[in-house]
Amino acid sequence: MSLLDRLRAQIAQDGPISVPEYFTRCLHDPRDGYYANRPALGEGGDFVTAPGVSQMFGELVGLWILETWDRMGRPSPVRLVEMGPGDGTLMSDVLRAARLLPDFLAAADAWLVEVSAPLRAAQAARLADAPVTPRWAGRLEEVPGGAPMILYANELLDCLPARQFVRTADGWAERMVGLDEAGNLAFGLKALSAPARRGSHALAVPDAPSTGFAAPPPPRAGEEWPPGTLVEASPAQAALGNELGHRLAAHGGAALLIDYGRDAPEAGDTLQAIKAHQKVSPLAEPGQADLTVWADFPAVVQAAREAGAQAGPILRQGDFLRSLGIEARTQALAAARPDQADKLARQLDRLTGGAQMGDLFKVACLFSPGLAPPLFEPSVSSFVS
Ligand SMILES: C[S@@+](CC[C@H](N)C(=O)[O-])C[C@H]1O[C@@H](n2cnc3c(N)ncnc32)[C@H](O)[C@@H]1O
Repeated sequence: MSLLDRLRAQIAQDGPISVPEYFTRCLHDPRDGYYANRPALGEGGDFVTAPGVSQMFGELVGLWILETWDRMGRPSPVRLVEMGPGDGTLMSDVLRAARLLPDFLAAADAWLVEVSAPLRAAQAARLADAPVTPRWAGRLEEVPGGAPMILYANELLDCLPARQFVRTADGWAERMVGLDEAGNLAFGLKALSAPARRGSHALAVPDAPSTGFAAPPPPRAGEEWPPGTLVEASPAQAALGNELGHRLAAHGGAALLIDYGRDAPEAGDTLQAIKAHQKVSPLAEPGQADLTVWADFPAVVQAAREAGAQAGPILRQGDFLRSLGIEARTQALAAARPDQADKLARQLDRLTGGAQMGDLFKVACLFSPGLAPPLFEPSVSSFVS
C-alpha cells in the first residue's frame, strides 16, 4: 500500500491531519518518506542547494567558522556540528577551507546530525578522505555537551514543518489535510474552537494547540491580520532555536543557520513540493517530492534568546557572502582558470544575485553571551529586537 493510500485510509477512519503531521509523514515515513527513501540532491535529482552551486559557498562558511573559533579563544576540543548535511558536500568544503588552520582541525570534534539513512551513506562516502573523521547522530541532543560548539546548517529549517492558520470571519482556523468528495487528499479548515468529531473531516488537532499558539503575531503593533490571511507558525523550528539557545548559553559557541525564509513577521502560504526541479502540488505525490516551508527566522531567534543565547542581525545570503569576500574569491579562481570565468560568474550570481538566492536566503547567527562572531557582532544594528 503506497503512502498516499495509507494516508487516505487513515484520514477516512480518523479524520483530517494537521499540515505538520502530513509533512512529517511525507518526509520521514520509515517505509515511503522522501528522506527515508529517495532524497535526490543535485542537478540530476530534485533540487540544488548552495553547496551544489559552488564550492565557494562552503569554503566561505569554513572561513567564517575559523574566525569564529579564533574569537572564541581557540577552545579544544570544539564540537563542529553540521545539521542536515545532505550529500556531505558542505562539510567537505568547510573542512577543505579549515586546512588553513591545522590547530582548528586538531581541535575539531566533528559531528553530522542526520536522520536519513541514504544520506548518511552519501556523507560517509564523500568524507572518506576528510582531514577529520566525523561521527553521526540522529538528533542534536545525542551530540555530547561539555565543550563549546560551532554548528552550521544550510536548508535544514525548511525541513521542519509549520502549522498553518487562516483568519476567517469567525476567528482563527487551522488548515488541515482531509479528503474531498472523490476521496482525494484536499486542504480544509478546522476552527480552533470546533469540537472534535470522529469519522468526520474535523478532527485530530487539539482545540488548545500545544504550541502555545494564541494568535499569530500581528503585522504591526496595533494592527490585525485581515480575514482570509494565512499565517504560519513552526513549533519545530522554534524548538530547535530553543535547544540551540540553551546549549550555546551553557557550553559556549555559535550556530549559523542559512535558509530561505522570512526575516520579519509575514503572512502567506509557503508550503512547497519540488520534484525534478519543478513545483508540484504538495498533496499530489506524498513521499515522492521534497516538501518545505520557509524558515521563520524571527521565531527561531526569539526562542534562542529566551533560552539565554544572543543573536545578531538576520542577513541576506548575498550580503553575507559578499562580506566574506566571495567576489574576490571568484576573481582569484577565474584568474587561475580563465576557461571557467563565465561559469564562475554564473555561480556568483546564483548565490548572491537579488533575483536568485541572494535576497530570498537569509543567514542568522545564535551565539553565547559575550561572543562576537564575525558579521554578527552584537553592536551591529538589527531590526530584530
Ligand atoms: C534540503 S537538504 C540540505 C542538505 C545540505 N545542508 C545542503 O545544503 O546541501 C536537508 C537535510 O536535512 C536533513 N533533515 C531533514 N529533516 C531533518 C530533521 N528533522 N532532523 C535532522 N535532519 C533533517 C535531510 O536528511 C538533509 O540532510
